[in-house]
Amino acid sequence: MPGLVIYGGKVDPVLILAIETSCDETSASVLRTAAQERGHVPPVRVPLPDSGTDLGTCPSGTCPPSSTPAKPPEVSGKADLGTGPSGTCPPSSTPATAPEVLSNIVLSQDEVHAPYGGVVPELASRQHIKTIAAIVGEALTRAGVALEGIDLYAVTQGPGLIGSLLIGLSFAKGLAYYHKKPLTGIDHLEAHLEACFLENPGIEYPVLGLLVSGGHTALYFMEEPLSYNLLGRTRDDAAGEALDKIAKFLGLGYPGGPVIEKLGRGGDPKAFPFAVPRTKDRSLDFSFSGLKTAALKHIREHGIVKDDARLPDFLASFEDVIARALVDNLRLAADAVLPRSLVLCGGVARNTRLRARFQDFARQAGLDAYVPSPKLCTDNAAMVGALALKKFARCPDAVTDLDLDAYARS
Ligand code: KG4
Ligand code: ZN
Repeated sequence: MPGLVIYGGKVDPVLILAIETSCDETSASVLRTAAQERGHVPPVRVPLPDSGTDLGTCPSGTCPPSSTPAKPPEVSGKADLGTGPSGTCPPSSTPATAPEVLSNIVLSQDEVHAPYGGVVPELASRQHIKTIAAIVGEALTRAGVALEGIDLYAVTQGPGLIGSLLIGLSFAKGLAYYHKKPLTGIDHLEAHLEACFLENPGIEYPVLGLLVSGGHTALYFMEEPLSYNLLGRTRDDAAGEALDKIAKFLGLGYPGGPVIEKLGRGGDPKAFPFAVPRTKDRSLDFSFSGLKTAALKHIREHGIVKDDARLPDFLASFEDVIARALVDNLRLAADAVLPRSLVLCGGVARNTRLRARFQDFARQAGLDAYVPSPKLCTDNAAMVGALALKKFARCPDAVTDLDLDAYARS
């Protein structure tokens, strides 16, 4: 009989298939919850509602916060997992152990978009349509799991390119509907932050997170697991976007971040004077468009071209001022919220100069600092699955219905 096995309020183990198609990477990952301590309540198999039944959302307030001890759920053989009344959520322990990533397949579309110097949304959607079935199949094969073995599906809902998101979402809905399994919609930015916990489940709260990707640059304060308070975000370009645009202008290729890092290696980061951008009101928001304009001015004034001998110095200077701007805001935020730990995530977190500046600051401030390994910094489905499992462990009622919609902006 299909269903989820609940041991004394803990679901163990769960196999999850996660899908991520928010931008120009098609990714699927299979994860398994780490073996949890089993309670003494005997295992109960909970049948899922029929495919036509609304799985419902966890009504606000019915999921206990992580510190609230709750009674094990009173599940009978016919319990309705989705629409249970308040109090049916199991004890909300956030697992201290990370799930096991059985597979994490990421297919980059870089080659498709490189000739245009940036992501072309329509091409991204078409590419996802062509590859998603194969990527999901590969993730299952590598994990040694059949679709029938999947207990839960997770998919990125947004923010991102709406056409690309809708492809992942529709594909995941189809699987969940056909196999009569729950589907959880996941926020892409929260998933990036979760990537840090996947490799370091014991990170101590409160946590200050710096998220730096191609589409977003933001600071989050996380007082406890699954809480995300936005402290500041970019008012114009994201840091990754600024790197991508300058690389495009110089004809260096796409994505810009890695190519700027490669060509700027060995360059003098002080060779070109860039002022660290600050918002006028000294808020924790970021702004990178002024920096982009300053870079274009240097390029014109010094006549910098693709094969220029000064290119490494210029790129190193540009990369360095972006890293300084990011860490300066992180410092301001840390002074304001007094975190215990710092995390850095998103595609730009792969950057060596930024990682070094981040670690230097953490050392000076006496804070624990974490950065995911490079493959978990850029978009991937493992971070989506990890977050879905954490939410599911907190409250199995939080599975959402098949009316999930994509959103372009947060
Ligand atoms: O998180 P991500 O994969 O996608 C978004 O959610 O946007 O981030 C992609 C961004 C791109 O702007 C890319 O240029 C940047 O991450 N990036 C880097 C590096 N690797 C990727 N930026 C600087 N240095 C890198 N090594
Ligand atoms: Zn991303």
